[in-house]
Amino acid sequence: MKSKGLICAGGEATRLGELTRVANKHLLPVGQWPMIYYPLQLLQRAGITDVLVITGKGHAGQMIDLLGDGRLAPRGGGDPILELDLTYKVQTEPGGIAQVVGMSRDFVGDAPLVVVLGDNIFEFSQAQAIEEWSDQADRAQIFVKDVPDPENFGVVVYGDDGAVTDIVEKAGVVDTRYAEPPTSHAVVGLYCYPPDVFEVIATLEPSSRGELEITDVNRHYAVTGRLHAQEVEGWWEDAGKHWQHLAEIGRTIEETGANK
Ligand code: G1P
Repeated sequence: MKSKGLICAGGEATRLGELTRVANKHLLPVGQWPMIYYPLQLLQRAGITDVLVITGKGHAGQMIDLLGDGRLAPRGGGDPILELDLTYKVQTEPGGIAQVVGMSRDFVGDAPLVVVLGDNIFEFSQAQAIEEWSDQADRAQIFVKDVPDPENFGVVVYGDDGAVTDIVEKAGVVDTRYAEPPTSHAVVGLYCYPPDVFEVIATLEPSSRGELEITDVNRHYAVTGRLHAQEVEGWWEDAGKHWQHLAEIGRTIEETGANK
């Protein structure tokens, strides 16, 4: 069955300070495009066309104004930027990424699901790894990247056989089992799930920050031996962390391209 896509584009984005008082983070410029074009294009490059966008209440109107039905021609003509079939849903209370994934249940049905966070941008679309996973989508797949600031992310712990044994969300802050991140292998915001992900989400309890954590979903697949951790090909950026990064990532995209 063909995979469906989900873009998580809610949240208050307080880390971006003055920039997101009224504007939605995912609509801020990164290079020549609004941020959210990049994760949408990633899904398209992976062959996924049926995509749900979930955003916060205050911003859904702007999001729909920008993206419409998902068929997006560039201003001034030329090849379409996106040729997707978009559906929208509104998150009224922020409750974590796993809560947002749970909201996609009716849209997804029995299909495999690929989730991208609306602020995550990749040099390569990871299309091959996503397609290989979808051929045997009875397990989950996460993508990992070594980072210099693992305290800002979820990180994976590997056992001796190379399999993921644990995942730790923002060590010392959200997951207090560890004072410091046990590794520097960050889990990036691109996740592939089999249809039973909704049953896993239904069993979750809110974390210390009051959210349903996607890390708890991924840990469930790790401890039940159904998780594959794939190294990210090329660079990866979470554009929602610091305002300085918006311009830096834009310049990187100009140099190397994105979603190749
Ligand atoms: C979220 C996830 C975290 C992941 C990160 C990737 O963090 O909770 O596990 O490493 O996305 O961008 P957030 O950006 O919501 O703090």
